Amino acid sequence: MTRASYSSGDVIADRRAGYAKALAADGEFAAAADLMSQALELVPHWAAGWDVLGDYHDRHGDVAAAISAWRHLEALDDAGVFGARLKLAVHGAGPAGTGTAVSYVEALFDQYASKFESSLVGKLGYRVPEMLDGLLAAEMTALGIERFERGLDLGCGTGLMGARMRTKVGYLEGIDISAAMIAETARKGIYDRLDKLELVAALSARRADADLMTAADVFIYCGDLKPVLAALVPALRPGGLVAFSLEAHDGEEAVFLRPSLRYAHGIKATRDVLVVAGLEILRFQTVVLRLDRGAPINGMLVVARKPPVDVSAANDGADGDVAA
Ligand SMILES: C[S@@+](CC[C@H](N)C(=O)[O-])C[C@H]1O[C@@H](n2cnc3c(N)ncnc32)[C@H](O)[C@@H]1O
Repeated sequence: MTRASYSSGDVIADRRAGYAKALAADGEFAAAADLMSQALELVPHWAAGWDVLGDYHDRHGDVAAAISAWRHLEALDDAGVFGARLKLAVHGAGPAGTGTAVSYVEALFDQYASKFESSLVGKLGYRVPEMLDGLLAAEMTALGIERFERGLDLGCGTGLMGARMRTKVGYLEGIDISAAMIAETARKGIYDRLDKLELVAALSARRADADLMTAADVFIYCGDLKPVLAALVPALRPGGLVAFSLEAHDGEEAVFLRPSLRYAHGIKATRDVLVVAGLEILRFQTVVLRLDRGAPINGMLVVARKPPVDVSAANDGADGDVAA
């Protein structure tokens, strides 16, 4: 699915929107909003136009007008491609959901795919795959693991994490909700198998066959970790590892939605939720993940393990059953 067209279908409205965009580029957000409102008088059902109008109002600091625009957007965008629910929640004008806004994330990355690497790695200093790979390598050495049999890269994107995992994994699968991201990575031939799937749904349908899972910069779109881990842990082999990153905050809240429309997770709450989900935390680091509008984004890198089956205990139990 690609993001809805930014053409309104009306030549005059498009022209006004074009002038508005030029004004916004010069920081003239109030004037841009004014012109965009005029464009929307001609095409009141143009969802993308309401999205842009909300953004101009927001940047101008007129939150009430931005909320009004996003409410129009919400009414027009049943699928949630434009993320109106998230925008309203961030501005205190709607329930703060804690789950993945699947259509929004899909459309976001469909639109972003062709410039993902130049933007994130080139301009924003994104190094999560490299850092997670380093942490994983250290843990492999500590545990005496030479190679994983079956790896699953959740939210594989353009394959930056997969490229790092490739030498460590026999059979490597990637899944992602965005068809355009999958198409970018398919060209590189990194993965043995690629599927366009939502990760919680995909994990819920699997048996415990992966001995490594990775999710670099992915759970920041999923919000509450409980449903993610409830699906992930059963799909991991006993003794299997999972390595992932999160954006971090220091507060008490388990998770909250940031103005960036990404979720930040609490450090203590994350440790607790991992343990409750039945994982052992092997490595836990707080790091700078990347920059966002010039500011560092603090985050967590985690390597955790599903406890191996205790064979001797299992045998003891079996013997006991027979004796009884
Ligand atoms: C910031 S990119 C990171 C891509 C890659 N892991 C990397 O490190 O370069 C996040 C990716 O996660 C995917 N994604 C986010 N939420 C998802 C979900 N619930 N199910 C599947 N993919 C998801 C997005 O489509 C996007 O490709």
